Amino acid sequence: MTRIKVKNSGIIKLKVRRKFPKGSLFSGEALREIPFKIKRIYFIRDIAEGRRIIRGNHAHKRISQVIFCLHGNFRLTLDDGDTKQSIMLKNPTEGVLLGPKLWMRMSDFSLDCVILVLASDYYEEDEYLRDYKYFLKFVAKK
Ligand code: TYD
Repeated sequence: MTRIKVKNSGIIKLKVRRKFPKGSLFSGEALREIPFKIKRIYFIRDIAEGRRIIRGNHAHKRISQVIFCLHGNFRLTLDDGDTKQSIMLKNPTEGVLLGPKLWMRMSDFSLDCVILVLASDYYEEDEYLRDYKYFLKFVAKK
């Protein structure tokens, strides 16, 4: 199991029911396994040049998200402005909490990679921090 060192993050464990030959069912509920009310979901797949593509490279001012790698694998790099950590996501039962003010970057995608994200609020571009220097200033204040 991965240990998270950065602030505003953590491992989110789903419940799993594995049954042969029926298959495996993974579940999580809002305000239980998922530590917020889910207002939005999105998923990412078909990353054609997985080893050359970088996604993310931003933080959020107030939105929380949980990210899962449902299939394949990719590298998630986290940075709270102080501590940095890089982990390979490949286990669909273990998501990573992306709390506010946490810089995240996704890279090294396998071609079969499928990523699911649950978010605490609707999409709003003004809520993103996309400039790393500004992010460091934003994290330092308050
Ligand atoms: P972007 O934030 O650049 O993706 P990533 O962080 O994975 O690199 O988003 C790609 C596009 O999708 C951008 O035009 C914004 C849009 N988008 C939505 O419309 N809704 C959403 O929930 C998200 C996450 C993105």
